Amino acid sequence: MKTDSSIDTYLHETREFAPAAAFISKANVNLAKYEELVEAGKNDFVKFWEEEAKKIVWRETWHTPLEWNEPYAKWFVGGKLNVTESCLDRHLQTKIKNKIAIVWESESGDIRRFTYEQLHTEVCKLAAVLERNGIKAKDRVAIYMPLIPEAVIAMLACARIGAAHSVIFGGFSAESIRDRVNDAGCVMIITADGGMRNNKTILLKNNVDEALKDNACPSVVTVLVYHHVGNKVTMEINRDVWWHEEIKKNSELDLAKSPESFDAENPLFILYTSGTTGKPKGILHTSGGYLTQVAATTSWVFDLKDEDIYWCTADVGWITGHSYVVYGPLAQGATVFLYEGAPLYPEPDRFWQMTAKHKISILYTAPTAIRTFMKMGDEHVLKHDLSSLRLLGTVGEPINPEAWIWYHNLIGKGRCPIVDTWWQTETGAIMIAPMPGAVTTVPGSATKSLPGISMYVVNQDGESCNSESGGYLVAKQPWPSMMRGIWNDPERFKETYWSQIPKMYFAGDGARKDENDNFWIMGRIDDVVNVSGHRIGTMEVESALVSNTHVAEAAVVARPDEITGQAIVAFVTLKNEAVASEEIKQELYAVVAKQIGSFAKPAS
Ligand code: PRX
Repeated sequence: MKTDSSIDTYLHETREFAPAAAFISKANVNLAKYEELVEAGKNDFVKFWEEEAKKIVWRETWHTPLEWNEPYAKWFVGGKLNVTESCLDRHLQTKIKNKIAIVWESESGDIRRFTYEQLHTEVCKLAAVLERNGIKAKDRVAIYMPLIPEAVIAMLACARIGAAHSVIFGGFSAESIRDRVNDAGCVMIITADGGMRNNKTILLKNNVDEALKDNACPSVVTVLVYHHVGNKVTMEINRDVWWHEEIKKNSELDLAKSPESFDAENPLFILYTSGTTGKPKGILHTSGGYLTQVAATTSWVFDLKDEDIYWCTADVGWITGHSYVVYGPLAQGATVFLYEGAPLYPEPDRFWQMTAKHKISILYTAPTAIRTFMKMGDEHVLKHDLSSLRLLGTVGEPINPEAWIWYHNLIGKGRCPIVDTWWQTETGAIMIAPMPGAVTTVPGSATKSLPGISMYVVNQDGESCNSESGGYLVAKQPWPSMMRGIWNDPERFKETYWSQIPKMYFAGDGARKDENDNFWIMGRIDDVVNVSGHRIGTMEVESALVSNTHVAEAAVVARPDEITGQAIVAFVTLKNEAVASEEIKQELYAVVAKQIGSFAKPAS
């Protein structure tokens, strides 16, 4: 692996990075403010979060800030809001109205921009389409789209009418779509004809057709298709409708309507994630508490300012895309950059070329991406002017100190703080991360619990571990953006998260706290593998493998990988009559791609 020579020097020197004076002077949260927040969070975490909740738009104030019947939490009970009013409408009353909300670049280099006013209009138009197609509050709508502005518009249009979206990452196969759509009972699927990656068309609409074949998803009434790539698709009569044709049917009256408000606990979305069984879990998030914490953490951790151009590289198919591409940044009136395409296309400098062109100031990405760029060589970075960057972030998997230092030196030129953020689909928002203007960072550590959040490392009996020993990472008190349950499976919710350690939320990760109170996340300690920051259940891969007729048994484990963090290794026993061959091996790769998606294939 190619590395910057200063890394070696560094590794033998200091291991701490205090916030720079120039950064502190303009930070949203400086040390004094941070200490105030920490204190307030400790004194009364419920009151603390109420103060943050006041920063989003409510139609009616709550009467009870928290109802806690372990493991069930309800935040801001009695409060009413429309999530999209915080993300869109409120900005139309300010100078943000004409600010760019979304800048999108396609893989081939096309650029589209939406101001907040334009984004608001598009969301209202699509919300009217959804209503006309029979979607009501509390219905579930699946979204299977490429990373284009319309994916964001679709999510917000659901939120606007109180329907819950269930975004399915575009890398998932038809069978995965079918399982998720059926589990959530989705009445509509919003998709596109195709998406682009590495100059190849991903046949999204075809995958949806395959998923729905032979009435396999009986709850689905409508498939709404956005015309994006222009690849040929079949439209099924009485089921499939084009986005642009439906929009044309809108009347002025539809658009003038002011949005309804919904209970703080109205479902906002379901997002499926892998667990320890073969069946993914539908993680349920609701509205008021979720929005409160994603909005607050966006401002604290990313130090977001009016003039920032913010790029979180996650796809909206994952929780990072929900919380830190869509809801958090839009609630804060940010300019969000979106890129649809492969990171190394057409050349390994694509990210840096776009960073320079769009003057990205905040970049939030995954350690796997950083390690990939590191391997590609420094020359791809050095070609570009990255002086617009002022803050860097990482998420999704532990970052090794070498990659951290490379990111800091080569990308951030030693000038940009790095925020290593620990959280999960289940936590909804960031839980452990440095506040960049106040907390000293240490490469490889996500540092401290955020104010109002209480994460601990404990042993099996729930007792705190000392700095020498590792233990289970837990939360001891509820937080606003916490999952409200597993869709259709309350027992699994209790058992997975609330039974391992008495009276605590168990995250599934092992961790250690050092003598300075910094958290070091050691990774999953359940049967979940983290490949490139994507969570994959070993059981899911095993059940795909054993569905092949030649396979008697399969066991899947993880091995460390220099680039992807972990890689999947499968041990397969064939039935007596079968003989191991390259052909069977290829069949097994194919069955995993078919049942889950290519990203879950064992490493070759
Ligand atoms: O193991 C932890 C790892 O990713 C898991 C959560 O995965 P997911 O729900 O897909 O959400 C990923 C994006 C928030 C965690 O249980 N993880 C996440 N962030 C970090 C991390 N591991 C180490 N350091 C992190 N910063």
